[in-house]
Amino acid sequence: MLILENIGVFVKHLIFYRFEVKISDMLLKTESQTIKAGKEFAATLHGGDIVLLYGELGAGKTTFVKGIAEFFGVKKKITSPTFALMNVYDVKPIKLVHVDTYRLKDEQELIDIGIEDYLGKPDAICVIEWPEKLSTIIKNKRCVKIHIEHTKNGRVIEFYNVKFPMSNVKSMTKSK
Ligand SMILES: Nc1ncnc2c1ncn2[C@@H]1O[C@H](COP(=O)(O)OP(=O)(O)OP(=O)(O)O)[C@@H](O)[C@H]1O
Ligand SMILES: [Mg+2]
Repeated sequence: MLILENIGVFVKHLIFYRFEVKISDMLLKTESQTIKAGKEFAATLHGGDIVLLYGELGAGKTTFVKGIAEFFGVKKKITSPTFALMNVYDVKPIKLVHVDTYRLKDEQELIDIGIEDYLGKPDAICVIEWPEKLSTIIKNKRCVKIHIEHTKNGRVIEFYNVKFPMSNVKSMTKSK
């Protein structure tokens, strides 16, 4: 059984992590630490960046986005755009675009509300919760991937740089 598990891990590394470089990880023990991490991470972002936020329900994805929004000076209260799908904050000179695909049925819904005006565009930074639901619209786009996991010691956050544009994000996710 152990041998099989090890083979599984090896294959996973061979297939998935060949494309990803883990930049760092941290343990976030409180909500305010998650916000602070988001704020510090935001300082590394540039127009055109796409951030994919993975993590189970309640992992802390929106809390992390609160920190990103704080860095960019967003005054409005940040909540998950679960029903609206996308919130755009015009924080000149860029727009911070917060997407939550949890209730998305079809990628076309996001296209219809104009996501392609922002994805990868130099004046926009897109942060996407539940990116597992997306495939074609982020295909061949360079993304930063972040995993947040709820553990008994707190939230563990991991940052990955994707070396190559992804052809199929779904196959590379570890949650859901
Ligand atoms: N490091 C942390 N320690 C303890 N609680 C945290 C931490 N980070 C976030 N939380 C809390 O966890 C709860 C869920 O967080 P949040 O809404 O950000 O999760 P989410 O991943 O966006 O969930 P969903 O998938 O439903 O959108 C919130 O009450 C938040 O305050
Ligand atoms: Mg959320």
